[in-house]
Amino acid sequence: MFQAKSIVAAAKPELYQDLAEQLAALLQGEVDPVANAANTAALIFELVPDLNWAGFYFLQSPRELVLGPFQGTVACVRIPVGRGVCGTAVARGETMLVEDVHAFPGHIACDVGSRSELVVPLRHTGGILGVIDLDSPLPARFDSIDQAGIERLAEIYVKATHGA
Ligand code: SME
Repeated sequence: MFQAKSIVAAAKPELYQDLAEQLAALLQGEVDPVANAANTAALIFELVPDLNWAGFYFLQSPRELVLGPFQGTVACVRIPVGRGVCGTAVARGETMLVEDVHAFPGHIACDVGSRSELVVPLRHTGGILGVIDLDSPLPARFDSIDQAGIERLAEIYVKATHGA
């Protein structure tokens, strides 16, 4: 049985290195996209500090994201591509790091307590499968180390679930 090990990390790069190793072990041998997304969201929510939401949106048509497995408060189900932070990440094909969601035009407030947000596209063979979305109640919670760390976790999820 897999049990998440709490991480006492002096520095964020070490936290994300440890998280990457735990996620690779957790997903090893399983390819179900929903099961793997559920466990990825649970691991992130348990071990990354100061989050109020961690989860997935999957691209279900060329124009629409649909809510996937997550931890946190109930959330918006459908987000058009190009709308909100999540839809913008897909439209641009790049990670969105938003220090103040109130200053982001079109931000979709699923949880009024959210103050900052990090959205990482799930890339696979040139296309985008969806996003990992992290919300925090703290302003400017995320930096480039969080971005690199969550981008690495997104790669591990895609590789385990859809192959290299
Ligand atoms: N804030 C997101 C919507 C998803 S929730 O944060 C879970 C957005 O603007 O796309």
